[in-house]
Amino acid sequence: MTVDAERAAAAEAAVNEVRAGMLVGLGTGRTAAFAVRALAQRVKEGLRATCVATSTATERLGVSLGLRVIPFEAVSRVDLTIDGADEIDPRFCAIKGGGGALLREKVVAAASDRVLIVVDANKVVERLGSFPLPVEVLPFAEAWVMRALTELGAAPTRRVVEAGTPFRTDQQNFVVDAAFGFIDDAADLAARLASIPGIVEHGLFVGEIDEVFVGREDGVERRTKMR
Ligand code: 5RP
Repeated sequence: MTVDAERAAAAEAAVNEVRAGMLVGLGTGRTAAFAVRALAQRVKEGLRATCVATSTATERLGVSLGLRVIPFEAVSRVDLTIDGADEIDPRFCAIKGGGGALLREKVVAAASDRVLIVVDANKVVERLGSFPLPVEVLPFAEAWVMRALTELGAAPTRRVVEAGTPFRTDQQNFVVDAAFGFIDDAADLAARLASIPGIVEHGLFVGEIDEVFVGREDGVERRTKMR
């Protein structure tokens, strides 16, 4: 199986959880895009669903495929969100934001009754931290946030689209990728990051995720968090 086939299989399995009339949160990234395509296929076959998107890129994709995507501004609750991740550990903690959509992804996840994560097998780790943690930063505060991240033990770098041109989020903020090495206590780090003024949001997900669908060589493994 190719990595794309693993992504597609995980995405299709998660999309099978969508029921008629649901409001569905659409994630961002390559794996989430497979879920958008799979949902659009089910809608073509007659499923009724309305969507909200975690990025302008996903909104464009969904609309282009015929999905009904409404503005999140008007929504206070989402039935089910399907999103990707950069790393996920056995406690359902994750690093997200490789695609730069972490702020909207976290807001939509917080508003969702259920959050399903879809990943290929390479994303499953014992300990988070090989993937540098994406942090969305107010441009005004970048230098100070870099210092604060360094004092927390990270090696931060500004994300760029090319040399000299910073990556901008949908909110026009910067992203700093903060290499912490292995993260022993994700909840503690999340709290410390949340207390730094100028950090708009960070990509550590510590309590939002309910289920993980892992695309593997031999099929899809489904993991459900015990409550
Ligand atoms: C975007 C994300 C993505 O879900 C994450 O980066 C995984 O993307 P991909 O499926 O392309 O590897 O958090 O902000």
